[in-house]
Amino acid sequence: MRRTVLTIVTLSFLLQATAQTSDAKMKAYVASLMSKMTLDEKIGQLNLVTPGSGVPTGSVVSRGVEDNIRKGRVGGLFGIFGPDKIRQAQTLAVKESRLHIPLIFGLDVIHGHKTIFPVPLGLSCSWDTTLIERTARIAAIEASADGLCWVYSPMVDIARDPRWGRIAEGSGEDPYLGSKIARAMVKGYQGTDLSKDNTVMACVKHFALYGAAEAGRDYNTTDMSRIRMYNEYLPPYKAAVDAGVGSVMSSFNEIDGIPATGNHWLLTELLRNKWGFKGFVVSDYTSVNEMIAHGMGDLSTVSALALKAGLDMDMVGEGFLTTLQNSLKAGKVTPKEINDACQRVLEAKYKLGLFDDPFRYINESRPDKEILTAQNRQAARETAARSMVLLKNERQTLPLKKSGTIALIGPLADNHAEMLGTWAVSGDKTKSVSIQEGFKNVAGSVQMLFAKGSNITDDTAFAKRISPFGKPTEIDPRTPEVMIQEAVDAAGKADVVVAVVGEAAEMSGESSSRTSLDLPGSQRRLIEALVKTGKPLVVVLMNGRPLTIPWLDEQAPAIVEAWFAGTEAGNAIADVLFGSYNPSGKLTTSFPRNVGQIPIYYNHKNTGRPYEGGNPKFKSDYLDVDNSPLYPFGYGLSYTTFTYDTIQLSQNTIRPGQPITATVLVKNTGNMAGEETVQLYIRDLVGSVTRPVKELKGFQKIKLNAGEMKKVEFTISENDLRFYNSELKYVSEPGEFKLFIGTNSRDVKEAGFRLEK
Ligand code: NOJ
Repeated sequence: MRRTVLTIVTLSFLLQATAQTSDAKMKAYVASLMSKMTLDEKIGQLNLVTPGSGVPTGSVVSRGVEDNIRKGRVGGLFGIFGPDKIRQAQTLAVKESRLHIPLIFGLDVIHGHKTIFPVPLGLSCSWDTTLIERTARIAAIEASADGLCWVYSPMVDIARDPRWGRIAEGSGEDPYLGSKIARAMVKGYQGTDLSKDNTVMACVKHFALYGAAEAGRDYNTTDMSRIRMYNEYLPPYKAAVDAGVGSVMSSFNEIDGIPATGNHWLLTELLRNKWGFKGFVVSDYTSVNEMIAHGMGDLSTVSALALKAGLDMDMVGEGFLTTLQNSLKAGKVTPKEINDACQRVLEAKYKLGLFDDPFRYINESRPDKEILTAQNRQAARETAARSMVLLKNERQTLPLKKSGTIALIGPLADNHAEMLGTWAVSGDKTKSVSIQEGFKNVAGSVQMLFAKGSNITDDTAFAKRISPFGKPTEIDPRTPEVMIQEAVDAAGKADVVVAVVGEAAEMSGESSSRTSLDLPGSQRRLIEALVKTGKPLVVVLMNGRPLTIPWLDEQAPAIVEAWFAGTEAGNAIADVLFGSYNPSGKLTTSFPRNVGQIPIYYNHKNTGRPYEGGNPKFKSDYLDVDNSPLYPFGYGLSYTTFTYDTIQLSQNTIRPGQPITATVLVKNTGNMAGEETVQLYIRDLVGSVTRPVKELKGFQKIKLNAGEMKKVEFTISENDLRFYNSELKYVSEPGEFKLFIGTNSRDVKEAGFRLEK
């Protein structure tokens, strides 16, 4: 025993010593390089440009890129991919610039590179961090095979406002789950060795609080207390930093009145000094320049502000490139500030192995062998099926039988483009599987009738707005009445109707906020007409955010939330509908009943006048709608059923160093195998500050055969009870706690324990 301990100590000492030596080697290499660099070349390293062939997300793209690369005035490039293009740019840098410093190549690889996985909000509904890590690993392999070494992911912004279109890009409303997913994604992208040719540097974004934009309007002001930040919004970013993320992207919004990109407290005091972040910080697209509009001064002032705050790389805006020299002369910035930023960018390149071999990620033979492989597509199919959430299933409408006639209806049923969802920058719709194709692949024996039934929208101006990157979302010129009638006729001839409705891909994502979360266009009328046919109806939703669908919940016997499920969406949806995969997804964002309830999230605080039912006056409720969401956080059904026994605690008291275990027996009471995510929540009943009514503190995904029973055990220690108090100290406080275990955040068993110190 003693010997094992000694060996472990020696090993970790050796590992630490090796890390220190390689760190020292890196520092020495970078210092020697920097000693040869002119001021202009150092500032050049801080300049990140996009030649505009990717997806420009601001109003400008970079000009004179080639010339600037030759002059050593570019540190990195983003928005291009493919070994040819990247080789050209890298050759310019390492052959024609004075010091031959390689460029770093980035891209928005958000939910896959060319094999597209479900949008991150969908992915998070799998509650499967191993699976999510695998998607990031595959994305890293594909991206690096395409010449890239840096990806702008994970996006870990907590979002509780589905009006905000970017809710699709993150993992929902919960900091605990969000942190686990952040860690998994960083691991998946970066692996254990960043210098390998198939790992890439991750970039956690958008630091910070971007998901809390007022009124859900993108880029809008955020304003929140530090205590809320620390407890509810910052944990996923910190988890990414703890997992060793190589870079951080600053957000567009302000924090405490100072835009994140120029916020010294955020980028230096918190991120580097408190959290110990060692990588580099890049701005978001022109977010340095945007501080002018925020009212922080002219370009030279805001660029100096950003550098002094701790920003290292300026995305597209060229404020650093064009003003820092003069700011240095004027004493507005110091040589050390420029050197520090330059050093951090060069260190990233060193960690990626680019100084050893600038062409490390550029290999023309890789794309064919490693991108969109059958294996990757299979992984996308499995992942997509595991991300889907069964919201309702009455009268065993699902799974469908592989016989008879099915009417497949809806604007998204025979569509290849929208399923890729937002931020599928390199996704290719010609490679994606439509639902109609998926049905043929999985249930070829079924007779299928098809009718479009409606457009996603009938409004041409709106269709244009939701197609910013290409051909406008197609509008069928027929009237809604004609299209609905055609669908009703098809339904009349079928045994079952499957309607695939929802949003266009770009109705969620960046700059895609909505004030109405209804099904757009005439899709609701279509569904209501289908309900009237009296035929069994399955509604499949394809969307990037919660929709307000209480009417649908009342009318449709079966509803599946499929999200934008990626390249293999059609096959995966068919797998779920025909029962090849028994759905197991659980929501990571509450579905409001109407927009007026927003923000609505499970881990809220209690009020002094909590609502407990009835129609009382002077309670915290609404006159016109219940307080509860339509579907709560953690909710999702299966084709089988699970029951939970009462919770058994090993003891009723936790002490520091003396955890307790909570055990519950879960039984599959249906007649098919299924997976269940068992969720553990805790409530701190009395505190020095108010505490949420429930907080997720653990979950386990288990598989149970029909009739099988499993014991699920959670260990709860003093550490799990900690939170940031009003002095922002991370503490636990003795007293009474409630513990809940259940199938979602609403339907739980309850027990109690004490913390003593
Ligand atoms: C703006 C977006 O906010 C960010 O998420 C993205 O990574 C950059 N544009 C680069 O495309």
